[in-house]
Amino acid sequence: NANGPKAGQSRNILEKMDESGKNCVIFYGSQTGTAEDYASRLAKEGKSRFGLETMVADLEEYDFENLDAFPRDKIAMFVLATYGEGEPTDNAVEFYEFITGEGVSFSEREDLENLNYVTFGLGNNTYEHYNSMVRNVDKALTKLGAHRIGEAGEGDDGAGTMEEDFLAWKEPMWAALAEKMGLEEREAVYEPIFGIVPRENLTPESPEVYLGEPNKMHLEGTAKGPFNAHNPYIAPIAESRELFSVKDRNCLHMEVDISGSNLSYQTGDHIAIWPTNAGQEVDRLLDILGLLDKRHEVISVKALEPTAKVPFPTPTTYDAIVRYHIEICAAVSRQFVSTLAPFAPNEAAKAEMTKLGGDKDYFHEKTGPLNYNIAQLLSTVSNGEKWTNIPFSAIIEGLNKLQPRYYSISSSSLVQPKKVSITAVVENQAIPGREEPFRGVATNYLFALKQKQNGDDNPEPFGKTYEIMGPRNKYDGIHVPVHIRHSNFKLPSDPSKPVIMVGPGTGVAPFRGFLQERAKQARDGAEVGRTLLFFGCRKPNEDYLYEKEWQEYKEALGDKFELITAFSRQGSKKVYVQHRLKEHGKEVSELLSQKAFFYVCGDAANMAREVNAVLAQIIAEGRGVSEAKGEEVVKSMRSSNQYQEDVWS
Ligand code: FAD
Ligand code: 2AM
Repeated sequence: NANGPKAGQSRNILEKMDESGKNCVIFYGSQTGTAEDYASRLAKEGKSRFGLETMVADLEEYDFENLDAFPRDKIAMFVLATYGEGEPTDNAVEFYEFITGEGVSFSEREDLENLNYVTFGLGNNTYEHYNSMVRNVDKALTKLGAHRIGEAGEGDDGAGTMEEDFLAWKEPMWAALAEKMGLEEREAVYEPIFGIVPRENLTPESPEVYLGEPNKMHLEGTAKGPFNAHNPYIAPIAESRELFSVKDRNCLHMEVDISGSNLSYQTGDHIAIWPTNAGQEVDRLLDILGLLDKRHEVISVKALEPTAKVPFPTPTTYDAIVRYHIEICAAVSRQFVSTLAPFAPNEAAKAEMTKLGGDKDYFHEKTGPLNYNIAQLLSTVSNGEKWTNIPFSAIIEGLNKLQPRYYSISSSSLVQPKKVSITAVVENQAIPGREEPFRGVATNYLFALKQKQNGDDNPEPFGKTYEIMGPRNKYDGIHVPVHIRHSNFKLPSDPSKPVIMVGPGTGVAPFRGFLQERAKQARDGAEVGRTLLFFGCRKPNEDYLYEKEWQEYKEALGDKFELITAFSRQGSKKVYVQHRLKEHGKEVSELLSQKAFFYVCGDAANMAREVNAVLAQIIAEGRGVSEAKGEEVVKSMRSSNQYQEDVWS
């Protein structure tokens, strides 16, 4: 596997840097791949512009006890995303605990005085703990005597400015670093990190050629657990159906069968879906790169330097790389546009790419709202002329690894321990000024699987173009690669405790699981506490999720369960869940004083914030205190887990 720590690989970063002649390490803490991408970009830039000998390092793969011996003339960069409720990303947990002293740490205050470091954080200001990971790490490092070079950078996904925040931060950082380390800037030249080696004696039928299989066990058909973020389980989809009653929007319900694996889940956990890119997008990219004819040629991809890692297994084909391993649909970054400029097919295209890459305002004016993906941008700039000069290594380096997408499990493990339900709305957004809508990668893949499973011989054109599970499909029926991620979003262990749940749209997903669970507990004779669910959608006859099922839970739970709906597009005025919450303020306040758990799931950008604010008002009114005090109460509810969020943007 390309991601996991390699057996026998040293966990000593100083040794590794020495062996490979590096003087700059860029550590990343990444959940969705952006921090990892930024780390690689810093590594490339440090090398090409300043001649630094850089390497990228996954925080999970090293130990940090010897950071106090980090030499003064070397540099450590930390590119750290904050995840969920101010938490470190999965791969940064140990590092975080170590460096902030929650785990073992250094004994002396000044232990890290030789360490020169740089930080950039990736956060989202719609969350309560904005960029807390990087802030806390920066604080801890300074406290341990280390010296930061340049400003501590922060990017904000909530404001949609992540990329520009990163670009704006890195210039002064490089200047400060160059001064501190006495580096001379030079004309940047592109040096490939990967070599592409044709394997003429192999064909896609050869058994050693990877066609989307994530690792060797999968290739050899002997996949076994543990199944996790490095090794998905290829799960049968037991059932899939449409939840909306309108034609133009889709919401999927799927049942993923994990009984053939040792995977388990708990109510409130997340399932990760490993998607495949749509055939139409694969073709578009291969075409504009002039690789359509070569798409099934077998190649090996080799790291040209010892610390670089090929992000997928090889030998493989161009087609399989683009289809299964790289994020080709995301909006293209301005820095990548700059990198590709020298490879333009003509002078006009080169000038345009240089201008787009170098001029922030021009870039945003020209491409901002259109959000072109890489292939769309290249073909727009060159008017369809092929970009045959781009080294394929630049494509692998410049695009993110295709990432799994997470879904809040919408079933109860008590009721169906080996079947995981998913509730996913299919992303399909019209973009003004652009011919084609934007279609989400994972949700359209799931949609295609559903179409196929339901025997739809004439699925809509986009869905039809998926290579489902690759041409060497060894599986009967419809399958999807998955793993489970455990979460802290949990029902109280005592079912008699009251709960209040707020989940508009697909935010209702985990609450379906919660209700299944409490209904079962009630049927089994347990005393189940008051259970309020605030659900919102546009109109009852369009997108009312699980309408019939709520009735079943009502039968099991009786008066204990109350569903409170907010239909936003039915009357003349928008009615949202938080309005309904306010109307039920008295009961909510009383339940909270009986230590009810309060849950919010769904949109992080607006809904979750507004619900938080309304709850503070309810508490203030209920207790006759100021709103500021109400907010404090909500904060303390959060820290004691009485208030739990499962939100995404
Ligand atoms: P992607 O391809 O990843 O695109 C995501 C968004 O990025 C698009 O909607 C669009 O706004 C933007 N975008 C990306 N590229 C472009 C472009 N070129 N042009 C224009 N816009 C672009 N979702 C659910 O439906 N149900 C759930 O229960 C659920 N639970 C979640 C739980 C967690 C913990 C998290 C983190 C997320 C959850 N999500 C859930 C969201 C889910 O993970 C996905 O983000 C969502 O389904 C979209 O995935 P996608 O691959 O279809 O879209
Ligand atoms: P709208 O699209 O009509 O504005 C699920 O998406 C439901 O959440 C829809 O009814 C949607 O309403 C609603 N919604 C949109 N913005 C919201 C917000 N800020 N707070 C609560 N609900 C919201």
